[in-house]
Amino acid sequence: MDLSSSLATPQALRGGSLTGPLAAHAARRRSVQLLLRPRRPTARCSVDAAKQQVQGPPAAVTAEAEAEAAPGKECFGVFCTTYDLKADEKTRSWKKLVNVAVSGAAGMISNHLLFKLASGEVFGQDQPIALKLLGSERSLQALEGVAMELEDSLYPLLREVSIGIDPYVVFEDADWALLIGAKPRGPGVERAALLDINGQIFAEQGKALNAVASRNVKVIVVGNPCNTNALICLKNAPNLQAKNFHALTRLDENRAKCQLALKAGVFYDKVSNMTIWGNHSTTQVPDFLNAKIDGKPVKEVIKDTKWLEEDFTVTVQKRGGVLIQKWGRSSAASTAVSIVDAMRSLVTPTPEGDWFSTGVYTTGNPYGIAEDIVFSMPCRSKGDGDYELVKDVVQVTDPAMTFLQSEVELIAEKRCVAHLTGEGNAFCDLPGDTMLPGEM
Ligand code: LMR
Repeated sequence: MDLSSSLATPQALRGGSLTGPLAAHAARRRSVQLLLRPRRPTARCSVDAAKQQVQGPPAAVTAEAEAEAAPGKECFGVFCTTYDLKADEKTRSWKKLVNVAVSGAAGMISNHLLFKLASGEVFGQDQPIALKLLGSERSLQALEGVAMELEDSLYPLLREVSIGIDPYVVFEDADWALLIGAKPRGPGVERAALLDINGQIFAEQGKALNAVASRNVKVIVVGNPCNTNALICLKNAPNLQAKNFHALTRLDENRAKCQLALKAGVFYDKVSNMTIWGNHSTTQVPDFLNAKIDGKPVKEVIKDTKWLEEDFTVTVQKRGGVLIQKWGRSSAASTAVSIVDAMRSLVTPTPEGDWFSTGVYTTGNPYGIAEDIVFSMPCRSKGDGDYELVKDVVQVTDPAMTFLQSEVELIAEKRCVAHLTGEGNAFCDLPGDTMLPGEM
């Protein structure tokens, strides 16, 4: 399949039906567009492209379809003629297509994530999606491979796939932006240098989101150091709501739940109200004081206080590092699962009395945490993509669990990237050599 030789996007696919005979038909006709700057012809299954080249435009192309085929709104060949979606829209209950942009799309995390998104794990079995995949010059070919695998999977909900290397193109109209791509810290790389290298990526992506994404785009930053990258990103997107930027700490929440379940001898689903406070780093605080097992405070179920205060916290903080030692690379599948969990938590109502953790912009928070950083806290959602802070979690006073260290660390990281947030000259005095969960 020669992706680069073919053409166009069926705008007509937007809002396509998921039921009835058209569904299977539509599934066979998903699009793969190459979004490159300068724009070049976008890609489509070569079968369609070949037809187009040999036969010219099909005779039945309507004036409306021709209009849709204007540059930037490329309706291609058979899609223009076989998808009478306007008619379908009148007769079926359609859901508007959700555009999900993913950076680092040729990487390991994405390789797990994209197929989950396409299968409906986040938005449900009645929500069509478009995947807009951002890679780099170097990963472009791999990205084509990813797109081909997505095509070959025949997901009925996956209506469009675009790939590209320019965030200003790929992020266009994104409803969600999952920012995974970042450079991992290699041997001998100072944390300050990592903050600068990755910070530049997130500054650029923030600017691009600001310019072209949906005004209500939800951004989940996964690339490390994710809290400060999220801060950089939101500072570079002044026209978007800071509230809509998240740093992924759901993986830490999941890890903490797993450890408590193991110790208590219960299944994971019995553990609730798990807060991760702070930074996605080894200073994070997994809050066992407010968490519950089977509706009871953890300390009533797990009597081993020494384990809770010493082993549990460190195990969660360092889980990523232990995993790297075993795998030889950082977590990918469980990270993808936690991204799905984080998204699902925003699009489904939080169960009564429970909450989830996510790194959010601190402004007017009730816990006295410094303003103007991205800090993981307990949140709830009505399922509309938005969230509110849970404000009445009992404040942790146990010195073993203070989140002061995380706060100090994030403030120092912020000073380190001041040149990327428009706040003057950077000054890097990171407390000790603070670590990502993967660094030990
Ligand atoms: C993780 O928590 O598994 C990763 O953030 C680790 C890392 O440093 O990549």
